[in-house]
Amino acid sequence: MAIIAQKCPHIKVTVVDLNVERIAAWNDEDVNNIPIYEPGLSDIVKEARGRNLFFSTEVDKAIDEAQMIFISVNTPTKTYGLGKGMAADLKYIELCARQIASIAKSDKIVVEKSTLPVRTAEAVKNILDNTGNGVQFQILSNPEFLAEGTAVTDLLNPDRVLIGGDTTPEGQEAIDSLVEIYANWVPKGQILTTNLWSSELSKLTANAFLAQRVSSINAMSELCEKTGADVSEVARAIGMDSRIGPKFLKSSVGFGGSCFQKDILNLVYIAKSYGLNEVADYWEQVIIMNDHQKRRFANNIVTTLYNTVSGKKIAFLGWAFKKDTNDTRESAAIYVADYLLNEQANVTVFDPQVKQKQIHHDLNYLQTRDAELNQKGTVVVDDPYEACKNAHAIAILTEWDEFRDYDWQKIYDNMQKPAFVFDGRNILDAKKMESYGFIFQSVGTAN
Ligand code: UGA
Repeated sequence: MAIIAQKCPHIKVTVVDLNVERIAAWNDEDVNNIPIYEPGLSDIVKEARGRNLFFSTEVDKAIDEAQMIFISVNTPTKTYGLGKGMAADLKYIELCARQIASIAKSDKIVVEKSTLPVRTAEAVKNILDNTGNGVQFQILSNPEFLAEGTAVTDLLNPDRVLIGGDTTPEGQEAIDSLVEIYANWVPKGQILTTNLWSSELSKLTANAFLAQRVSSINAMSELCEKTGADVSEVARAIGMDSRIGPKFLKSSVGFGGSCFQKDILNLVYIAKSYGLNEVADYWEQVIIMNDHQKRRFANNIVTTLYNTVSGKKIAFLGWAFKKDTNDTRESAAIYVADYLLNEQANVTVFDPQVKQKQIHHDLNYLQTRDAELNQKGTVVVDDPYEACKNAHAIAILTEWDEFRDYDWQKIYDNMQKPAFVFDGRNILDAKKMESYGFIFQSVGTAN
């Protein structure tokens, strides 16, 4: 919404949320205090806020005034009842639809921005038409393809914008009005329009394909470790095949983030609900592989440290699910820490952007042990050298650029010996690390 406001000064954009604290943070005088850390975003908010970009808790007023409403609430995996652990929980979507229906006194275009299962638009339309005040609603699907950490550049130069809508003349008119908004900065050739179901399913498909690439290269990483092949060399060799392409072939401790796992589980659930068990099993394997990769990384730390980490200090560099974000949802670090805590390790974490409260919250959310034990077992510090001091091993969980530039000799000198580094992101140079004295292991190379 910030980008739309910046690129379309003639359009008034109001972002509403029930969460008073969150909206206050978006309105904080110092734009560095906005609730999301995302390179370049503060400057854009600074430029547009108060001009044509507003943050407010007056949800009903904003619905009443708007001609177009984007539903951008979260759709987490269900944690209860039918479809538990797989299906998307559409509770918040439904609540939005009901609120829009009860408030709207003029025709509106309702845009699904949240990632949704196929045919959700049908449910949204049903609610709007049956509980509304007799006004006309057009539903559009406009899934988002930005990645965190690069959100601003992704939005300014998207590979494509996708808009799905009804194939009726009214649907086409609604599609056109959203196309016109994006056309303020996106070339028309890159704005695709489809029917609603193709648009909804394309979003899930894109994320499934991306996650599948990571699981595919991670599957190869284990084979590389056994055979003496080097996964980075393999990725480079296959990536030069223009049919495969070089992106998204970085082997790692496993993918995280709020989307990949959730969207694939959702896809699996949809496939199963149509009785397409082979399709469901095929995609579920991407998740199985990812879970295996996280567990395998943690397991390797334990076995390498002479089969026990009990009472040993393990330093985590990074907690976010990728660099340049403070988002930790489904981060591999959480699961690796959980596993090591089960082995009675003392984990110390440093992440340039993630705060202690979040880290403890992430561990408590798993409900593996009491909050008190999580707090005792996981110390969070704001200095990387302190994190690594007296540690038996360091695990790199996020690929923050600054980790490459640390004084690794100093870190080595202050560690227990032998000093181990497990690079879960393949960002450090093995030869250099070994020259400082470390026993160094990365993902996908034989040791
Ligand atoms: C992902 C998609 O890339 C976006 O297109 C999509 O819009 C977004 O989900 C969404 O649905 O909201 P995001 O999760 O923000 O974006 O970040 P990614 O760059 O895709 O990374 C996801 C995870 O995969 C991270 O943990 C990352 O470290 C890992 N990854 C990525 C690898 O391990 N190797 C790679 O080569 C690439």
